[in-house]
Amino acid sequence: MDYFCSMVKIGNIELGEFPLLLAPMEDVSDPPFRQVCKENGADMMYTEFVSSEGLIRNAVKSVRKLDIFPYERPIGIQLFGSDVETMAECTKISTEVNPDLIDINYGCPVKKVACRGAGAALLQDIPLMARMTEAVVKATHLPVTVKTRLGWDDSTKNIEEVAERLQDVGIQALTIHGRTRAQLYKGEADWSLIAKVKNNPRIKIPIFGNGDIDSPEKALEYKNRFGVDGIMIGRAAIGYPWIFNEIKHYFQTGEYLPAPNMEQRVNAATQHLKFSVEWKGETLGILEMRRHYSNYFKGLPNFKEHRMKLVQSMNLEEILETLDFVKREYEGVTLETKAKVVEYGGVD
Ligand SMILES: Cc1cc2nc3c(=O)[nH]c(=O)nc-3n(C[C@H](O)[C@H](O)[C@H](O)COP(=O)(O)O)c2cc1C
Repeated sequence: MDYFCSMVKIGNIELGEFPLLLAPMEDVSDPPFRQVCKENGADMMYTEFVSSEGLIRNAVKSVRKLDIFPYERPIGIQLFGSDVETMAECTKISTEVNPDLIDINYGCPVKKVACRGAGAALLQDIPLMARMTEAVVKATHLPVTVKTRLGWDDSTKNIEEVAERLQDVGIQALTIHGRTRAQLYKGEADWSLIAKVKNNPRIKIPIFGNGDIDSPEKALEYKNRFGVDGIMIGRAAIGYPWIFNEIKHYFQTGEYLPAPNMEQRVNAATQHLKFSVEWKGETLGILEMRRHYSNYFKGLPNFKEHRMKLVQSMNLEEILETLDFVKREYEGVTLETKAKVVEYGGVD
């Protein structure tokens, strides 16, 4: 069968020929952010990672992450944890809110996760990883997928073995971030091992590549060079949700969509803010939106004064007025900058 004509499927979920996935990102990929990404072409999305320890204790933060909306489909809930029973129990809890799939995080490198035996730590114990995955698969009727890294460090890049073992216990897709745990976010993502996993004749499940995609050209180059079934995009979508449709358009026509104009930028930021306030309440919604403005308006000349207004006010009306002012003040300005991978030292 012609590879390019085949439909990528996870269980019964049809994802088109070459899906673009929005990466799960703690403190970023919440429902308001997911809404703007969905409207701009994300084919599949995930929640922020949900702590199984938190969920089992009914912690507000974890339970709130299970909020999903019909227009987001297909959407996966991502779980992480170190205890097999707790992960299985949380899979059952998550299944009750009826997502399209359950994803397991075996990639998080941050100390408070990986040094407590969860996230990327499981890369150091494949038998435990396989047991945990099998328990999650058995705890739900939904497809289970995994997101992980190349290995723990440079001398233990075991993703090829990991992929086979996880497929054997029933996962239905695998996303690989082309870095090791030790690398955190440093250096360039290496997709050559991702391609090796994809080219392994034993591997039948879709393999999605992840790491550093920030332009239509790079997406096309990596699609062709590494033969993956789809691409997951994280940082480049922050403040730039247009990247999904830009990539699709480039794949179809070989041409660039025009960069979003000021109206589109302000409208996206405004929609993001309004939904944040609606979903989180005014105080939290306003506070948590502050980290996004500089990304939506990166590169605007003399923007500092407006940014300060946006991040210092606790008054929704005032912030909306500032956004409206920015729209008028910068009308006709087109930014050179397209998507950029934002540096997030130490955050995961
Ligand atoms: C702020 C931030 C939060 C993240 N949170 C998660 C998470 O909750 N679960 C996860 O699997 N990966 C998480 N990641 C990793 C991303 O999903 C992705 O693998 C990584 O950013 C590399 O892709 P990119 O180069 O397209 O950003 C996070 C990354 C960032 C920057």
